[in-house]
Amino acid sequence: MQLLDGKKTASDIRADIKVQVAELKENGFKVPHLAAVIVGDDGASQTYVASKVKQCAEVGFESTLIKLPDTISEEALLAQVESLNNNESIDGFIVQLPLPEQIDEQKVTEAVAPEKDVDGFHPESVGKMVLGLPTYLPATPYGILNLIDRYNIKTEGMHCVVLGRSNIVGSPMSILMARNTQPGNCTVTVYHSRSKNIRTICNQADILIVALGRPEFVKSEMVKEGAIVIDVGITRVKDSTKKSGYRLLGDVDFGDVAEKCSYITPVPGGVGPMTIASLLLNTLQASKGKRAVVA
Ligand SMILES: NC(=O)c1ccc[n+]([C@@H]2O[C@H](COP(=O)([O-])OP(=O)(O)OC[C@H]3O[C@@H](n4cnc5c(N)ncnc54)[C@H](OP(=O)(O)O)[C@@H]3O)[C@@H](O)[C@H]2O)c1
Repeated sequence: MQLLDGKKTASDIRADIKVQVAELKENGFKVPHLAAVIVGDDGASQTYVASKVKQCAEVGFESTLIKLPDTISEEALLAQVESLNNNESIDGFIVQLPLPEQIDEQKVTEAVAPEKDVDGFHPESVGKMVLGLPTYLPATPYGILNLIDRYNIKTEGMHCVVLGRSNIVGSPMSILMARNTQPGNCTVTVYHSRSKNIRTICNQADILIVALGRPEFVKSEMVKEGAIVIDVGITRVKDSTKKSGYRLLGDVDFGDVAEKCSYITPVPGGVGPMTIASLLLNTLQASKGKRAVVA
């Protein structure tokens, strides 16, 4: 079993980005500028956004953090998005989800200018991804592709089973793994809450990508000998022995499954850091005025 070390790989990617930012600066170009909008005080969202901002500084990006109260109206948030769309100094921005219930997330997602949509959630970005046109890929699936690529895993002809079909992880992941690219060229099965025969389906997986939000759902009897297992899940569970009061669990029972795998991602330290690194890659592309698909 080999660990797919997202923490180390993301750190390598940040080092590459840092070099490119220094080159931009040397050649008289402005450094990339990412803005993040956070609404309310959800603990997990605060942590993600704080990491994003911190890592911008590490690679030499400029960053702007906009904190808004959870009582904000949809109209006021849309005005904020419009202002970021029109702010020429900002190359890309994200609106951290989830949003409070008075706000229609889809409306906000669609209000982001596609050329600044470094989260890759806008329908135009998603449509281009499906068609294989240059675009910003959604950060988590893009991070997984980057991880597979950096470990030089050739996926052609493999059976990839994706557990989960959300708009931000499962669905785009399944589309990307089926494309005529490397990583890609897989035969893909998508499993969701209405699917049946989980054990049989998972046991056919050469690559199992799990994005359910169900801690330790995947057990060893669901995994084929030698499979590649990628765990996207992150759930905070109470743990009084930790300073933070919680620990993070993935959707895969790592202790039970790891021995059977050829490769496996840990949680934390797997897909999470790769997601942020890929957001930085999208922002770098945005600052260069071009969108790119990974080959
Ligand atoms: N590492 C990262 O950077 C990162 C990024 C994003 C998300 N995440 C984590 O990844 C997990 C999934 O996130 P998400 O946004 O994709 O979640 P989501 O929107 O809640 O989607 C979960 C998906 O799993 C399916 N599902 C749930 N329980 C199931 C079950 N028992 N059997 C079969 N299918 C089931 C749902 O099916 P239906 O469609 O039928 O309801 C849905 O498609 C969460 O833990 C989240 O925190 C991590």
